Amino acid sequence: MAPFHRPSRTGLALFAASAFFTSSAAFADDAAGSVAARLGGADGIAAFINARVVPALVASELGVFFTGGVVPLTESTSQTVTCLARLLDHDLGGPSPKNGSIAVDPAASPFPVQHQCRSSMSNVHRGMRITDAQFALFVNIVATQAIAAGVAQDDVVEVGKVLNRYRGSITNQ
Ligand code: HEM
Repeated sequence: MAPFHRPSRTGLALFAASAFFTSSAAFADDAAGSVAARLGGADGIAAFINARVVPALVASELGVFFTGGVVPLTESTSQTVTCLARLLDHDLGGPSPKNGSIAVDPAASPFPVQHQCRSSMSNVHRGMRITDAQFALFVNIVATQAIAAGVAQDDVVEVGKVLNRYRGSITNQ
């Protein structure tokens, strides 16, 4: 079982700082820039996921998925987080590639140090048989943690919209 990485306090501080300076009336790609930029780009998003989302997911009924209890894992948690953060950065207006980039984790063992982020979310989640309710819980956990981290409500709504676009390809696979 691949251990989850310890939350990065520096990363969280950076994330919180970027959220602090966010206008309360922010919209996607408005004059203040993209949602992705306000969240600190792929690095800020990854720091947020590591510090808040991973622990909350593991503590929930979804935890068993992320510890390999439903389908064996094929990458380290750090690599999953990196790929997800880049995907979200891309979809929220940032410069990250949507997929195909390499997530490097020197501590990935027993998985390869280099992992290529995959494009097919249905293939990634194949065999997990994620239900609609479980998917909703995932989105709810992300939104709850984002609000707690000080992300502006309009930006949380945009993140929720992006996640929900993947509902069809992730559930019931
Ligand atoms: C209940 C909801 C979800 C569960 C239980 C779940 C579970 C997982 C698990 C266990 C992995 C690791 C797969 C492996 O090691 O091979 C993974 C990877 C991943 N998930 Fe999910 N996931 C969920 C929702 C989502 C959502 C909403 C997204 C948004 C797009 C997402 C995007 C990803 C990405 C990008 C990866 C990394 C894939 C890669 O290797 O490139 N997941 N997920």
